[in-house]
Amino acid sequence: MTFSPASRGRLTRRDLDRFPDDTLFDRLARAVCDAGCLPRKELYEAWEVARRVRRLFRGGRVLDLGGGHGLLAQVMLLLDDSSPNALVVDKSLPASSAKLHDVIVGVWPRLAGRVAFVAGGIEDVDILDTDIVVSSHACGALTDLVLARAAAARARVAVLPCCHDLDSGDDGGLAGWVDGAVAIDIVRAMRLEQQGYRIWTQAIPEGITPKNRLLIGDPLQPIPGQSV
Ligand SMILES: C[S@@+](CC[C@H](N)C(=O)[O-])C[C@H]1O[C@@H](n2cnc3c(N)ncnc32)[C@H](O)[C@@H]1O
Repeated sequence: MTFSPASRGRLTRRDLDRFPDDTLFDRLARAVCDAGCLPRKELYEAWEVARRVRRLFRGGRVLDLGGGHGLLAQVMLLLDDSSPNALVVDKSLPASSAKLHDVIVGVWPRLAGRVAFVAGGIEDVDILDTDIVVSSHACGALTDLVLARAAAARARVAVLPCCHDLDSGDDGGLAGWVDGAVAIDIVRAMRLEQQGYRIWTQAIPEGITPKNRLLIGDPLQPIPGQSV
């Protein structure tokens, strides 16, 4: 059987042999296998999102909203130590998020004390203009909330949307020409640009997830409509 990165099956110690190399990815994958709690696709998604965001953004706190296990936040720190710390916010943090973090810190002690987990709503988190806001698969309108909150704070932002609601999502009237979910993401990208952001539209490999469109935004200064 082929080893699909899209599997929702958990990586466990039985998978250790699949990651034999001394690369950062294989070392991370082995840590994830040791933790034994993470769906395989989340490893690949977090890695592919983080490396694309890190090509563009350095420094600042990493805010992983709707972060689940918070692996994306931790990969952001592993790929680039320019961010001092990370905050993972999720209204229902998986119990195993602490276990995964402990295993990662066991391998990379420099992450100790630098990743905080908050069980709470995206609605309530304070966002700074120096933050890098990341959000992988915030379902439906939650992605819009992440984008709105990041834009209001003038923070850098990257979202990988999923679970598009074709009834309530804003498709800008484009759904007659393009797939409804694509239309919703185009409207998100255009809105972010109109809010004074430079945007990047990228994709992670479809073999990991069909919900693979990555929208990245960097606020231009000054804020449009505001005098300097
Ligand atoms: C599909 S999961 C994605 C988790 C993780 N980012 C990933 O890529 O594996 C969506 C997450 O959003 C969280 N969530 C839903 N509504 C939320 C809210 N209002 N505030 C914070 N987290 C929320 C859920 O608890 C869930 O963990």
